[in-house]
Amino acid sequence: MRAVGFRINGGVEVLEELERPEPVPAPGQVAVRVAFAGVNFAEIQHRRGEFGAPDGPGGVDIPGLEVAGVVVALGAGASGLEIGEPVAAYLPAFGGYAEVVATDIRFVRSLRTEAGEADLAQAAGLPCVYPTAFGILKDAGRLRAGEDVLIHSAVGGVGSAAAQLARQLGAGRVYGTVGSAEKIPYAAELGYDEVFLRDGFAEQLAEVTGGRGVDVVLDPVGGPIREQSLTLLAPFGRVVAYGDLGRHEQWTASVWDLWKGNRTIAGFNIGDLARRAPERIGEYLAEALRLLAAGRIRSGVTQTLPLAEAAKAHQLLETGSGQGKILLSIT
Ligand SMILES: NC(=O)c1ccc[n+]([C@@H]2O[C@H](COP(=O)([O-])OP(=O)(O)OC[C@H]3O[C@@H](n4cnc5c(N)ncnc54)[C@H](OP(=O)(O)O)[C@@H]3O)[C@@H](O)[C@H]2O)c1
Repeated sequence: MRAVGFRINGGVEVLEELERPEPVPAPGQVAVRVAFAGVNFAEIQHRRGEFGAPDGPGGVDIPGLEVAGVVVALGAGASGLEIGEPVAAYLPAFGGYAEVVATDIRFVRSLRTEAGEADLAQAAGLPCVYPTAFGILKDAGRLRAGEDVLIHSAVGGVGSAAAQLARQLGAGRVYGTVGSAEKIPYAAELGYDEVFLRDGFAEQLAEVTGGRGVDVVLDPVGGPIREQSLTLLAPFGRVVAYGDLGRHEQWTASVWDLWKGNRTIAGFNIGDLARRAPERIGEYLAEALRLLAAGRIRSGVTQTLPLAEAAKAHQLLETGSGQGKILLSIT
């Protein structure tokens, strides 16, 4: 099968087109013929070596955390899906930039939902991003109806999903920050009440909330943004840390300050969830596909590139210039 992978860690130039043997599903797994793969920032981290050196078969790693396609084979004991059924799949062990992937059936959900059949291309942008957004808002952020939310990197893959989900979960005001002014019009399409530039966001947010601040902050950036966000929490507010885009030194919060200020820092990581509570990822993926089929959310695909242009997709994400979701078309 055709795939794009890397033998050494490095810049986009290490990505190469490869011929690989098709994976055979192990017991409990499903093999999916991939139509579209979503591109995620974590795949850039994977390529750079932030998750270790390539250790896949033949010394090659194939990136790709989320796909949509059709079921082509079921491993022993894998039931509930049929050959030919359109599905979306989260891939905790990567592998999505390829014609066929195999993954645990607990991470695979049918596009045929009770609200109708979800669109194959749109569905490819959901399996990593939406369970992440659900986990950040509901589990780590403990969002309750009427509470106000601030979403940093408001128009990235996770940010775009979180804005829409926050509405579905009954949030009050939804604020966002972006790195550059040209992203503000796109953010407005996602339903944000107000969007600020990251530079100077703290003063503006304090002003529009009359000094109260917000109940939940979603922070994939870290460093000073995380520290400032903590100061902007309303009583019992939560900052959810889930990324390190700014590549800042790890910052240590003072328990004394949290205690004295009625503030909480929470963390979310989908990889840990895949190991320790995999069924929750399947539940959230199924719910996201139902919302997509019902027209209540969109995956916000802004560009679809052929598999051979995976390096271009990485460049767009790595420079922070992308907005919404970028897909790779595999067929
Ligand atoms: N913990 C988890 O389980 C989990 C799961 C999925 C993703 N993530 C993390 O969430 C973050 C976003 O992922 P994504 O797939 O949504 O990414 P994405 O679509 O590439 O969006 C990332 C956005 O981050 C912003 N950004 C801020 N600083 C940046 C920097 N130094 N370099 C590049 N972009 C920067 C950019 O927008 P602005 O400049 O407008 O802010 C960019 O559009 C990543 O850190 C990823 O690792 C974590």
